[in-house]
Amino acid sequence: MAGRIPQQFIDELISRVDIVDVIDARVPLKKKGREHVACCPFHNEKTPSFTVSQGKQFYHCFGCGAHGTALGFLMEYEHLDFVEAVEKLAAGIGLSVPREGGDNAPRGPSPQPLYELMEKSAHHYQQQLRRHPQRQRAVDYLKKRGLSGEIAAAFGIGYAPDGWDHLLKALGQEKEQQDRLLTVGMLIEKDDGRRYDRFRDRIMFPIRDYRGRVIAFGGRVLDKGEPKYLNSPETPIFHKGRELYGLFEAKQALREIPRLLVVEGYMDVVALAQFGVRYAVATLGTAVTKEHLERLFRTTAEVVFCFDGDRAGRDAAWRGLENALPLMREGHQLHFMFLPEGEDPDTLVRSIGRDGFEQRIGQAQPLSEYFFEQMGRQADITRLDGRARLVELCRPYLSKLPPGVYRHLMLDRLAQLAHMERDALERMLGGETAPMAPTAPVAARPARPPAVSRHQPSLVRSAIGLLLQRPALAQLVGEPQQLSGLHLPGTPLLVEMLDLLRQQPHLTTGALLEHWRQSDQGKHLFALAQRDMLLSAEDDNLEQEFSDTIARLLQQLRRQRRLDLEQRFGSLSEEEKNEYSQLVRGST
Ligand code: UTP
Ligand code: MN
Repeated sequence: MAGRIPQQFIDELISRVDIVDVIDARVPLKKKGREHVACCPFHNEKTPSFTVSQGKQFYHCFGCGAHGTALGFLMEYEHLDFVEAVEKLAAGIGLSVPREGGDNAPRGPSPQPLYELMEKSAHHYQQQLRRHPQRQRAVDYLKKRGLSGEIAAAFGIGYAPDGWDHLLKALGQEKEQQDRLLTVGMLIEKDDGRRYDRFRDRIMFPIRDYRGRVIAFGGRVLDKGEPKYLNSPETPIFHKGRELYGLFEAKQALREIPRLLVVEGYMDVVALAQFGVRYAVATLGTAVTKEHLERLFRTTAEVVFCFDGDRAGRDAAWRGLENALPLMREGHQLHFMFLPEGEDPDTLVRSIGRDGFEQRIGQAQPLSEYFFEQMGRQADITRLDGRARLVELCRPYLSKLPPGVYRHLMLDRLAQLAHMERDALERMLGGETAPMAPTAPVAARPARPPAVSRHQPSLVRSAIGLLLQRPALAQLVGEPQQLSGLHLPGTPLLVEMLDLLRQQPHLTTGALLEHWRQSDQGKHLFALAQRDMLLSAEDDNLEQEFSDTIARLLQQLRRQRRLDLEQRFGSLSEEEKNEYSQLVRGST
């Protein structure tokens, strides 16, 4: 698809919009002191605890912990992904979103004609299902699979007749249109330059994006043939690792989406809809990715994976679980449902009906249960060494959970199974949770007992936390680069942040968060910003605290340098010897 959105543009966008306008247009805000408040749109409440800070360009709900920037708000509130939210926010103030170059498919003025062409293709295939001389075969096939005209219409199902140039002739008469048909994968070009229809004699399932735009197709053979399903290739408007078949249709059919059921096939989604289960979606022949999960959890709080009971299905479920762990926070639920051997949702719902099927959904295993059951199979917890092994096995997984109630409960459960003290477990896992930099552990949780917190890393961390809280503090530091020699985790981020704030002193908390959102550090910064919203920010103290922190960091730096010189004491130059004696004098 198009290239990445330049960070510079996002910085500018955030500096030009006001979070208060963005939120107020959707959730009317009341002014209260310096902040704006409302009843939280993300949980049920009678008294307002949803607070928007204009100064920080950040919102926070003291009731449910929801928090973020203007962009984050749009993502949550309108169920958009990052790029969509950027586009919407930009459109709101009349900006168009630039992309970084280097893409194989040049973006051109706009992808709009590509969407239009896909829409026309979908329409064309639907027409063929009604009119084409060969239509009866296709209609019979759909009937045999038990689909009504109404459901076929809701999903826009069509038919691509047999022949090499049916679509080509219908839509590709002009050169420009024909080139576009090639770009969106509807035509294939041979080595000699001749072009022909990709989809021939197939039932056509249009794949729509979150806005209902047709972006690709899956085509099923009517009889036996290979491949059973032929899918559009990746194109400038289609990335299969992001899209979920049936999500748009679910949103159309239901006002409230109670849950989303993730199944494997096109036909499973459609058959379930036929039986009144309108909330099924399918990944497009790929594993469930992190992007899928983010999209799912933006749309609903409860996700149920429905997989085959066989080996492949279990493997797919486990991969899905691994991708889901970082997203498991309070309010998000993930359940696992396995089908009897030889069944898929399509066949099962036909044999046991909607009620029977929904009953099985109701019995799906929660993530925690499924997880510990799987882990328990690899360790005999009736024995001491087995319990130790259980902890070791669980550790890498649990450390992926974000801090919060959900993580807490999972640790409780492990503590119980392993007969361990919860605190001891927390300390064991702590070394590897929520690091500021991926390589080095940092004291991460506010509630961590002082005995195990490592003083050095937490200094960098608190400097960063204070900067997020009040970016103007950066001006208290003379030359940021002087800190860059520190061998402490998080130092590069701190220096980068100080540098950025020197160049752009007016950046807000929200702007800083958006600057790093797309990088590895982003989510730690968000967590830090949220935590500190809860601390009362005694204005005068902040300055002092920040100056002290920086002073201590500089002291660390001198100590580090002194130790470094001591290591090589025999081979120091004159200059270094002078430096050393100064350092020694300074440190007393
Ligand atoms: P299945 O082989 O389980 O088929 O593929 P199905 O969904 O039960 O289809 P029916 O009932 O025979 O019509 C599951 C999914 O894997 C992808 C498709 O997304 C399909 O829905 N797939 C499968 C392909 O992309 N290509 C294939 O050739 C087969
Ligand atoms: Mn099937």
